[in-house]
Amino acid sequence: MLAVAALAGIAVWQAPAASASVPLQYTTNRYVGSAVAASYLASEPDYRAVLTREFDNVTPENEMKWGTIEAVRGQYDWSGADAIVRYAQQHHKTVRGHTLVWHSQLPDWVAALPADELRRVLRDHITTEVKRYKGKIRAWDVVNEIFNEDGTRRDTVFRQKLGDGFVADVFRWAHAADPHATLYINDYNIEGLNPKSDAVYELVKTLRKQGVPIGGVGIQAHLSTQYGFPDGYRANLARFAKLGVDAAITEADVRIPTPPDAAKLATQASYFGELWDGCQSVRRCVEFTTWGFTDRHSWVPDVFPGEGAACLFDENLRPKPAYFRINP
Ligand code: XIL
Repeated sequence: MLAVAALAGIAVWQAPAASASVPLQYTTNRYVGSAVAASYLASEPDYRAVLTREFDNVTPENEMKWGTIEAVRGQYDWSGADAIVRYAQQHHKTVRGHTLVWHSQLPDWVAALPADELRRVLRDHITTEVKRYKGKIRAWDVVNEIFNEDGTRRDTVFRQKLGDGFVADVFRWAHAADPHATLYINDYNIEGLNPKSDAVYELVKTLRKQGVPIGGVGIQAHLSTQYGFPDGYRANLARFAKLGVDAAITEADVRIPTPPDAAKLATQASYFGELWDGCQSVRRCVEFTTWGFTDRHSWVPDVFPGEGAACLFDENLRPKPAYFRINP
């Protein structure tokens, strides 16, 4: 634009576009999502505006976790989850429900229950939450992070008290509560081919053979530029697709050592680009969701000291090189 104006001899300065002319959500036939926090959605108009413009799926960052919904037994707080679902309905966005069964952000009172009671309470929890939003949730992360890095099962209270079979049970309970939602297993460090993604692959294969209603594999994709881009990412997506399930990038972010500079942002852009292009290349990769969209509110600096700036937009909601890599 500047060049054209200069050629034409017009002395008009034009600010660089605040974002690409076509919002990200319209550049692909995949769902393009972000994790969202109900508090910022209510209190920050600029945050809400960018979310509304760029994305067509939302995933509640914390609002649907057990620790939020029922921190104290019998006292439910649906306020945040309800607000996000209401926003999604008003703006014609889909919702990814996150997450029904997770060892983390799990109330102590649940972890303390004896086996038979835990089973009843778990079934009630899933049934109550899934039914509340029946027809309004496109996909549910039913189980989250049930494997260790070496491919063995994570030793959670669910496994200790209910045995490995709890996984098949929770998918059946969720399906009974909302037969139209696609039900996912979700985990991190399963982007590439490795012992952990092998274990997820074998479990999904087994569950499908048993007729368990699992419909997708959620790949979190919390990446760091200190490590190489995951080996075998596309082959991994392809093997899940061959099992007849969907795949989704559910929590993408690419953290860099802080402070950011041009070279680090360029590396970050190439990681986001690989993630995005790989998903575009596999028909069954149906969703690309990032874990927050602005560095203003990312979880990364709290959890990974010395790293941050992991999102597509900076603190001031300006699109970063990674954004322009996937939406040139
Ligand atoms: C994180 C949230 O972003 C934080 O706000 C919270 O304090 C902890 O949980 N994997 C997941 C997400 O499945 O639920 C986590 O979200 C990030 C890692």
